[in-house]
Amino acid sequence: MDVCAGGALMAHDFSTLIDRTAQGSAKWAAMRRANPEVLVGIPPFSVADLDLPQAPEIVAGLREFLADAVLGYTEPTPACTRALIDWMTRRHDWRIAPDSIVWTNGVVPALCTAVRALTPTGAGVIVQPPVYYPFYSAIERNGRRVVRNPLLLQDGRYRMDLDGLRRLAADPANTMLILCSPHNPVGRVWTHDELRAVAAIAVEHELIVVSDEIHCDLVLPGHRHTTLASLGQEIARRSIVCTAPSKTFNLAGLCTSHIVISDAALRGRFRAELESQGQFFVSAPGLKACELAYTHGQEWLDGLLRLIASNQALLREFLRERLPTMGVLPLEGTYLQWLDFRKLGMSAAALKRAHQDEAVVFFAEGTTFGAEGAGFARMNIAAPRAALLAALERLALCHGPGGPAA
Ligand SMILES: Cc1ncc(COP(=O)(O)O)c(C=O)c1O
Repeated sequence: MDVCAGGALMAHDFSTLIDRTAQGSAKWAAMRRANPEVLVGIPPFSVADLDLPQAPEIVAGLREFLADAVLGYTEPTPACTRALIDWMTRRHDWRIAPDSIVWTNGVVPALCTAVRALTPTGAGVIVQPPVYYPFYSAIERNGRRVVRNPLLLQDGRYRMDLDGLRRLAADPANTMLILCSPHNPVGRVWTHDELRAVAAIAVEHELIVVSDEIHCDLVLPGHRHTTLASLGQEIARRSIVCTAPSKTFNLAGLCTSHIVISDAALRGRFRAELESQGQFFVSAPGLKACELAYTHGQEWLDGLLRLIASNQALLREFLRERLPTMGVLPLEGTYLQWLDFRKLGMSAAALKRAHQDEAVVFFAEGTTFGAEGAGFARMNIAAPRAALLAALERLALCHGPGGPAA
Protein backbone atom coordinates (compact mmCIF):
# COMPACT_ATOMS: atom_id res chain seq x y z
CA MET A 1 0.00 0.00 0.00
CA ASP A 2 1.33 3.41 -0.89
CA VAL A 3 0.21 6.43 1.05
CA CYS A 4 1.28 10.01 1.36
CA ALA A 5 2.81 10.63 4.76
CA GLY A 6 4.92 13.54 5.91
CA GLY A 7 4.99 14.80 2.34
CA ALA A 8 6.66 11.64 1.02
CA LEU A 9 5.19 8.58 -0.61
CA MET A 10 5.76 5.70 1.80
CA ALA A 11 5.14 2.00 1.21
CA HIS A 12 3.58 0.31 4.20
CA ASP A 13 4.59 -3.32 4.42
CA PHE A 14 2.52 -5.56 6.70
CA SER A 15 3.44 -8.86 5.05
CA THR A 16 7.21 -9.29 5.39
CA LEU A 17 8.29 -11.48 8.28
CA ILE A 18 11.74 -10.63 9.64
CA ASP A 19 13.55 -13.29 11.66
CA ARG A 20 14.64 -11.19 14.65
CA THR A 21 16.86 -13.79 16.31
CA ALA A 22 20.11 -12.06 15.33
CA GLN A 23 18.68 -8.68 16.38
CA GLY A 24 18.48 -9.87 20.00
CA SER A 25 14.69 -9.92 20.11
CA ALA A 26 13.78 -11.17 23.60
CA LYS A 27 10.81 -13.24 22.47
CA TRP A 28 12.59 -14.88 19.52
CA ALA A 29 15.48 -15.79 21.85
CA ALA A 30 13.06 -17.25 24.43
CA MET A 31 11.39 -19.32 21.70
CA ARG A 32 14.73 -20.70 20.50
CA ARG A 33 15.78 -21.51 24.07
CA ALA A 34 12.51 -23.40 24.61
CA ASN A 35 12.75 -25.29 21.32
CA PRO A 36 16.07 -25.02 19.46
CA GLU A 37 14.58 -26.94 16.51
CA VAL A 38 12.21 -24.12 15.46
CA LEU A 39 12.72 -23.46 11.75
CA VAL A 40 13.57 -20.05 10.29
CA GLY A 41 10.33 -18.33 9.29
CA ILE A 42 8.30 -19.37 12.34
CA PRO A 43 7.72 -16.39 14.65
CA PRO A 44 6.70 -16.56 18.31
CA PHE A 45 3.18 -15.33 19.14
CA SER A 46 4.00 -14.56 22.77
CA VAL A 47 5.42 -11.21 23.98
CA ALA A 48 3.53 -8.07 22.95
CA ASP A 49 5.62 -6.54 20.23
CA LEU A 50 5.01 -6.49 16.49
CA ASP A 51 6.58 -8.97 14.09
CA LEU A 52 6.21 -6.43 11.31
CA PRO A 53 8.57 -3.97 9.62
CA GLN A 54 8.77 -0.60 11.39
CA ALA A 55 6.75 2.34 10.07
CA PRO A 56 8.93 3.79 7.29
CA GLU A 57 8.10 7.35 8.38
CA ILE A 58 9.85 6.65 11.70
CA VAL A 59 12.81 4.84 10.12
CA ALA A 60 13.40 7.63 7.58
CA GLY A 61 13.03 10.33 10.22
CA LEU A 62 15.45 8.59 12.61
CA ARG A 63 18.00 8.17 9.80
CA GLU A 64 17.83 11.86 9.06
CA PHE A 65 18.06 12.73 12.76
CA LEU A 66 21.02 10.42 13.37
CA ALA A 67 22.96 11.87 10.46
CA ASP A 68 23.96 14.88 12.56
CA ALA A 69 22.47 14.32 16.03
CA VAL A 70 24.69 14.69 19.08
CA LEU A 71 23.37 12.04 21.45
CA GLY A 72 24.07 13.66 24.79
CA TYR A 73 21.59 14.14 27.65
CA THR A 74 18.40 15.23 25.98
CA GLU A 75 15.12 16.79 27.09
CA PRO A 76 11.87 16.51 25.15
CA THR A 77 11.79 19.38 22.68
CA PRO A 78 8.69 21.60 22.38
CA ALA A 79 8.04 19.87 19.01
CA CYS A 80 8.02 16.45 20.70
CA THR A 81 5.69 17.58 23.50
CA ARG A 82 3.39 19.28 20.96
CA ALA A 83 3.26 16.11 18.81
CA LEU A 84 2.19 14.06 21.85
CA ILE A 85 -0.43 16.58 22.99
CA ASP A 86 -1.89 16.92 19.47
CA TRP A 87 -2.03 13.14 19.03
CA MET A 88 -3.92 12.61 22.29
CA THR A 89 -6.30 15.46 21.47
CA ARG A 90 -6.99 14.17 17.95
CA ARG A 91 -7.28 10.49 18.74
CA HIS A 92 -8.73 10.46 22.22
CA ASP A 93 -10.20 13.91 22.74
CA TRP A 94 -7.91 14.15 25.76
CA ARG A 95 -6.28 17.51 26.40
CA ILE A 96 -3.00 17.18 28.27
CA ALA A 97 -1.37 20.14 30.02
CA PRO A 98 2.31 20.20 29.00
CA ASP A 99 3.57 20.43 32.58
CA SER A 100 1.61 17.32 33.64
CA ILE A 101 3.84 15.03 31.53
CA VAL A 102 6.62 13.02 33.14
CA TRP A 103 8.86 11.07 30.75
CA THR A 104 10.09 7.67 31.92
CA ASN A 105 12.10 4.76 30.57
CA GLY A 106 8.99 2.65 30.19
CA VAL A 107 5.54 2.03 31.56
CA VAL A 108 6.62 -0.84 33.80
CA PRO A 109 9.27 1.36 35.46
CA ALA A 110 6.51 3.95 35.91
CA LEU A 111 4.24 1.39 37.60
CA CYS A 112 7.04 0.55 40.04
CA THR A 113 7.72 4.23 40.66
CA ALA A 114 4.04 4.98 41.28
CA VAL A 115 3.72 2.10 43.75
CA ARG A 116 6.81 3.22 45.70
CA ALA A 117 6.01 6.93 45.58
CA LEU A 118 2.30 6.90 46.23
CA THR A 119 1.55 4.02 48.63
CA PRO A 120 2.96 3.19 52.05
CA THR A 121 5.00 0.00 52.52
CA GLY A 122 2.66 -2.95 53.06
CA ALA A 123 -0.32 -1.21 51.40
CA GLY A 124 -2.83 -3.22 49.40
CA VAL A 125 -2.81 -2.53 45.66
CA ILE A 126 -5.84 -3.79 43.74
CA VAL A 127 -5.47 -5.54 40.37
CA GLN A 128 -8.06 -7.29 38.21
CA PRO A 129 -6.73 -10.64 37.02
CA PRO A 130 -6.11 -12.22 34.64
CA VAL A 131 -3.86 -9.25 34.00
CA TYR A 132 -0.48 -8.20 32.55
CA TYR A 133 1.91 -10.02 34.91
CA PRO A 134 4.38 -7.16 35.67
CA PHE A 135 1.53 -5.58 37.67
CA TYR A 136 2.13 -8.28 40.27
CA SER A 137 5.90 -7.80 40.40
CA ALA A 138 5.60 -4.00 40.49
CA ILE A 139 3.57 -4.43 43.68
CA GLU A 140 5.29 -7.38 45.37
CA ARG A 141 8.90 -6.49 44.60
CA ASN A 142 8.29 -3.10 46.11
CA GLY A 143 6.99 -4.46 49.39
CA ARG A 144 3.25 -3.94 48.82
CA ARG A 145 0.43 -6.53 48.74
CA VAL A 146 -1.44 -7.71 45.64
CA VAL A 147 -5.19 -7.51 46.28
CA ARG A 148 -7.16 -9.40 43.63
CA ASN A 149 -10.49 -8.41 42.20
CA PRO A 150 -10.81 -11.01 39.41
CA LEU A 151 -12.64 -10.12 36.22
CA LEU A 152 -15.93 -11.94 35.67
CA LEU A 153 -16.39 -14.00 32.51
CA GLN A 154 -20.09 -13.85 31.71
CA ASP A 155 -21.70 -14.92 28.42
CA GLY A 156 -18.34 -15.03 26.67
CA ARG A 157 -17.29 -11.52 27.67
CA TYR A 158 -15.16 -10.27 30.55
CA ARG A 159 -16.49 -7.60 32.89
CA MET A 160 -15.12 -5.84 35.92
CA ASP A 161 -16.58 -6.96 39.24
CA LEU A 162 -17.60 -3.48 40.33
CA ASP A 163 -19.20 -4.71 43.58
CA GLY A 164 -15.96 -6.52 44.42
CA LEU A 165 -13.97 -3.42 43.57
CA ARG A 166 -16.19 -1.25 45.78
CA ARG A 167 -15.78 -3.69 48.69
CA LEU A 168 -11.98 -3.80 48.36
CA ALA A 169 -11.73 -0.04 47.87
CA ALA A 170 -13.67 0.50 51.11
CA ASP A 171 -10.83 -1.17 53.06
CA PRO A 172 -8.49 1.69 54.07
CA ALA A 173 -5.50 -0.68 53.81
CA ASN A 174 -6.00 -0.75 50.02
CA THR A 175 -4.87 2.59 48.67
CA MET A 176 -4.21 2.06 44.96
CA LEU A 177 -5.79 0.40 41.93
CA ILE A 178 -3.71 -0.52 38.88
CA LEU A 179 -6.17 -0.53 36.00
CA CYS A 180 -5.31 -2.04 32.61
CA SER A 181 -7.24 -0.07 29.99
CA PRO A 182 -7.57 -1.52 27.34
CA HIS A 183 -7.10 -4.77 29.20
CA ASN A 184 -4.19 -7.08 28.45
CA PRO A 185 -4.73 -10.07 28.09
CA VAL A 186 -8.52 -10.28 27.69
CA GLY A 187 -8.80 -7.61 24.96
CA ARG A 188 -11.58 -5.54 26.52
CA VAL A 189 -11.84 -1.82 25.79
CA TRP A 190 -13.64 -0.61 28.89
CA THR A 191 -16.70 1.45 28.07
CA HIS A 192 -17.31 5.01 29.18
CA ASP A 193 -19.89 3.74 31.69
CA GLU A 194 -17.60 1.08 33.14
CA LEU A 195 -14.84 3.65 33.60
CA ARG A 196 -17.23 6.17 35.13
CA ALA A 197 -18.15 3.51 37.68
CA VAL A 198 -14.47 2.86 38.46
CA ALA A 199 -13.85 6.59 38.76
CA ALA A 200 -16.78 7.01 41.16
CA ILE A 201 -15.46 4.20 43.40
CA ALA A 202 -11.94 5.64 43.35
CA VAL A 203 -13.14 9.12 44.26
CA GLU A 204 -15.47 7.90 46.99
CA HIS A 205 -12.81 5.73 48.65
CA GLU A 206 -9.82 7.95 47.89
CA LEU A 207 -7.97 5.37 45.80
CA ILE A 208 -5.07 6.46 43.63
CA VAL A 209 -5.58 4.92 40.17
CA VAL A 210 -2.63 4.02 38.00
CA SER A 211 -4.34 3.66 34.64
CA ASP A 212 -2.08 1.74 32.27
CA GLU A 213 -3.34 2.91 28.88
CA ILE A 214 -0.36 1.77 26.81
CA HIS A 215 -2.74 -0.01 24.37
CA CYS A 216 -5.04 3.02 23.97
CA ASP A 217 -4.34 3.52 20.25
CA LEU A 218 -4.97 -0.13 19.41
CA VAL A 219 -8.74 -0.12 19.39
CA LEU A 220 -10.77 -2.05 16.84
CA PRO A 221 -13.78 -0.73 14.89
CA GLY A 222 -16.92 -0.35 16.98
CA HIS A 223 -15.03 0.50 20.17
CA ARG A 224 -13.67 3.69 21.63
CA HIS A 225 -11.01 4.23 24.26
CA THR A 226 -11.82 6.60 27.11
CA THR A 227 -8.95 8.08 29.05
CA LEU A 228 -9.72 7.73 32.74
CA ALA A 229 -8.42 11.21 33.49
CA SER A 230 -10.80 12.73 30.94
CA LEU A 231 -13.78 11.82 33.13
CA GLY A 232 -13.61 14.90 35.32
CA GLN A 233 -11.39 16.88 37.65
CA GLU A 234 -11.93 14.67 40.66
CA ILE A 235 -10.69 11.48 39.01
CA ALA A 236 -7.97 13.33 37.06
CA ARG A 237 -6.57 14.51 40.41
CA ARG A 238 -6.18 10.87 41.56
CA SER A 239 -4.91 9.37 38.26
CA ILE A 240 -1.51 8.42 36.95
CA VAL A 241 -2.12 7.75 33.25
CA CYS A 242 0.60 5.67 31.64
CA THR A 243 0.92 5.95 27.87
CA ALA A 244 3.69 5.45 25.32
CA PRO A 245 4.27 5.00 21.61
CA SER A 246 5.89 1.63 22.33
CA LYS A 247 2.91 -0.71 21.61
CA THR A 248 1.30 1.43 18.91
CA PHE A 249 4.49 1.87 16.86
CA ASN A 250 6.62 -1.01 18.16
CA LEU A 251 9.17 1.21 19.87
CA ALA A 252 9.52 -0.68 23.19
CA GLY A 253 13.25 -1.10 22.57
CA LEU A 254 13.68 2.68 22.69
CA CYS A 255 12.41 2.79 26.30
CA THR A 256 10.47 6.06 26.17
CA SER A 257 7.09 6.61 27.80
CA HIS A 258 5.00 9.56 28.87
CA ILE A 259 3.15 9.48 32.15
CA VAL A 260 0.46 12.07 32.72
CA ILE A 261 -0.12 13.21 36.30
CA SER A 262 -2.44 16.21 36.59
CA ASP A 263 -2.06 16.75 40.31
CA ALA A 264 1.08 18.71 41.10
CA ALA A 265 1.58 17.10 44.53
CA LEU A 266 1.30 13.53 43.18
CA ARG A 267 3.54 14.47 40.27
CA GLY A 268 6.13 15.88 42.65
CA ARG A 269 6.20 12.68 44.69
CA PHE A 270 6.40 10.56 41.52
CA ARG A 271 9.26 12.67 40.15
CA ALA A 272 11.14 12.59 43.45
CA GLU A 273 10.94 8.78 43.49
CA LEU A 274 12.19 8.60 39.88
CA GLU A 275 15.10 10.84 40.76
CA SER A 276 15.90 8.77 43.85
CA GLN A 277 16.49 5.91 41.39
CA GLY A 278 18.82 8.14 39.37
CA GLN A 279 16.36 8.55 36.50
CA PHE A 280 16.59 12.07 35.11
CA PHE A 281 16.65 11.52 31.35
CA VAL A 282 15.16 9.30 28.69
CA SER A 283 16.63 8.20 25.39
CA ALA A 284 17.32 10.87 22.75
CA PRO A 285 16.37 8.59 19.81
CA GLY A 286 13.33 7.51 21.85
CA LEU A 287 12.10 11.08 22.11
CA LYS A 288 12.71 11.69 18.40
CA ALA A 289 10.92 8.45 17.45
CA CYS A 290 8.01 9.50 19.64
CA GLU A 291 7.77 12.86 17.87
CA LEU A 292 8.01 11.23 14.43
CA ALA A 293 5.39 8.60 15.29
CA TYR A 294 2.86 11.09 16.61
CA THR A 295 3.49 13.49 13.73
CA HIS A 296 3.62 11.12 10.74
CA GLY A 297 2.33 7.74 11.97
CA GLN A 298 -1.42 8.06 11.53
CA GLU A 299 -1.75 6.28 8.15
CA TRP A 300 0.64 3.51 9.14
CA LEU A 301 -1.38 2.92 12.32
CA ASP A 302 -4.60 2.78 10.29
CA GLY A 303 -2.95 0.04 8.19
CA LEU A 304 -1.87 -1.84 11.32
CA LEU A 305 -5.41 -1.70 12.73
CA ARG A 306 -6.78 -3.07 9.44
CA LEU A 307 -4.27 -5.95 9.65
CA ILE A 308 -5.24 -6.74 13.27
CA ALA A 309 -8.95 -6.73 12.39
CA SER A 310 -8.46 -8.96 9.36
CA ASN A 311 -6.12 -11.33 11.24
CA GLN A 312 -8.71 -11.61 13.99
CA ALA A 313 -11.45 -12.40 11.45
CA LEU A 314 -9.18 -15.03 9.86
CA LEU A 315 -8.45 -16.63 13.22
CA ARG A 316 -12.09 -16.61 14.31
CA GLU A 317 -13.27 -18.17 11.05
CA PHE A 318 -10.47 -20.75 11.00
CA LEU A 319 -11.13 -21.91 14.54
CA ARG A 320 -14.90 -22.00 14.01
CA GLU A 321 -14.44 -24.36 11.06
CA ARG A 322 -11.44 -26.41 12.11
CA LEU A 323 -11.25 -26.30 15.92
CA PRO A 324 -14.72 -25.51 17.21
CA THR A 325 -13.86 -26.68 20.74
CA MET A 326 -11.49 -23.74 21.10
CA GLY A 327 -13.05 -20.50 22.30
CA VAL A 328 -12.10 -17.10 20.86
CA LEU A 329 -12.87 -14.17 23.13
CA PRO A 330 -14.00 -10.94 21.44
CA LEU A 331 -11.07 -8.67 20.62
CA GLU A 332 -12.03 -5.06 21.19
CA GLY A 333 -8.56 -3.61 21.60
CA THR A 334 -4.86 -4.59 21.71
CA TYR A 335 -3.48 -7.20 19.28
CA LEU A 336 -3.53 -9.87 21.95
CA GLN A 337 -6.09 -12.58 21.34
CA TRP A 338 -7.28 -14.46 24.43
CA LEU A 339 -8.01 -18.08 23.53
CA ASP A 340 -10.03 -20.53 25.62
CA PHE A 341 -8.73 -24.11 25.59
CA ARG A 342 -10.70 -25.27 28.64
CA LYS A 343 -12.97 -27.63 26.68
CA LEU A 344 -9.89 -29.67 25.73
CA GLY A 345 -9.55 -30.59 29.41
CA MET A 346 -5.73 -30.43 29.38
CA SER A 347 -3.52 -29.28 32.25
CA ALA A 348 -1.57 -26.03 31.82
CA ALA A 349 1.68 -28.03 31.53
CA ALA A 350 0.25 -30.40 28.89
CA LEU A 351 -1.13 -27.48 26.88
CA LYS A 352 2.21 -25.71 26.92
CA ARG A 353 4.04 -28.88 25.84
CA ALA A 354 1.58 -29.52 23.02
CA HIS A 355 1.86 -25.95 21.75
CA GLN A 356 5.63 -25.55 21.98
CA ASP A 357 6.79 -29.04 21.01
CA GLU A 358 4.05 -30.36 18.70
CA ALA A 359 2.35 -27.34 17.15
CA VAL A 360 5.49 -25.17 17.41
CA VAL A 361 3.23 -22.25 18.30
CA PHE A 362 4.54 -20.13 21.15
CA PHE A 363 1.80 -18.38 23.10
CA ALA A 364 1.93 -16.52 26.38
CA GLU A 365 0.37 -19.25 28.53
CA GLY A 366 -2.74 -18.19 30.44
CA THR A 367 -1.44 -18.80 33.95
CA THR A 368 1.30 -16.22 33.32
CA PHE A 369 -1.46 -13.66 33.94
CA GLY A 370 -2.64 -15.23 37.19
CA ALA A 371 -4.36 -18.46 38.24
CA GLU A 372 -7.53 -17.09 36.62
CA GLY A 373 -5.83 -17.68 33.24
CA ALA A 374 -5.66 -21.48 33.63
CA GLY A 375 -6.92 -23.16 30.44
CA PHE A 376 -6.36 -20.01 28.36
CA ALA A 377 -3.49 -18.71 26.25
CA ARG A 378 -2.76 -15.30 24.76
CA MET A 379 -1.83 -15.13 21.10
CA ASN A 380 -0.18 -12.04 19.65
CA ILE A 381 -1.79 -11.72 16.22
CA ALA A 382 0.23 -8.69 15.04
CA ALA A 383 2.20 -10.71 12.51
CA PRO A 384 1.98 -11.18 8.74
CA ARG A 385 -1.20 -12.99 7.73
CA ALA A 386 0.71 -15.89 6.14
CA ALA A 387 2.64 -16.57 9.37
CA LEU A 388 -0.59 -16.52 11.38
CA LEU A 389 -2.32 -18.88 8.97
CA ALA A 390 0.60 -21.33 9.06
CA ALA A 391 0.50 -21.30 12.88
CA LEU A 392 -3.25 -21.99 12.86
CA GLU A 393 -2.71 -24.93 10.50
CA ARG A 394 -0.13 -26.39 12.90
CA LEU A 395 -2.50 -25.83 15.80
CA ALA A 396 -5.30 -27.62 13.93
CA LEU A 397 -3.00 -30.61 13.34
CA CYS A 398 -2.10 -30.65 17.01
CA HIS A 399 -5.59 -30.26 18.52
CA GLY A 400 -7.77 -31.56 15.68
CA PRO A 401 -9.24 -35.06 15.42
CA GLY A 402 -6.42 -37.61 15.48
CA GLY A 403 -3.77 -34.95 16.25
CA PRO A 404 -1.06 -35.74 18.79
CA ALA A 405 -2.79 -33.69 21.50
CA ALA A 406 -6.32 -34.96 20.65
C1 LIG B 1 -0.48 -3.31 29.78
C2 LIG B 1 0.98 -3.14 29.51
N1 LIG B 1 1.69 -2.25 30.22
C3 LIG B 1 3.02 -2.06 30.00
C4 LIG B 1 3.68 -2.80 29.04
C5 LIG B 1 5.16 -2.61 28.83
O1 LIG B 1 5.53 -1.30 28.96
P1 LIG B 1 7.05 -0.84 28.84
O2 LIG B 1 7.71 -1.69 27.83
O3 LIG B 1 6.94 0.59 28.47
O4 LIG B 1 7.64 -1.02 30.21
C6 LIG B 1 2.97 -3.73 28.29
C7 LIG B 1 3.68 -4.55 27.30
O5 LIG B 1 3.16 -5.51 26.80
C8 LIG B 1 1.60 -3.91 28.52
O6 LIG B 1 0.87 -4.78 27.81
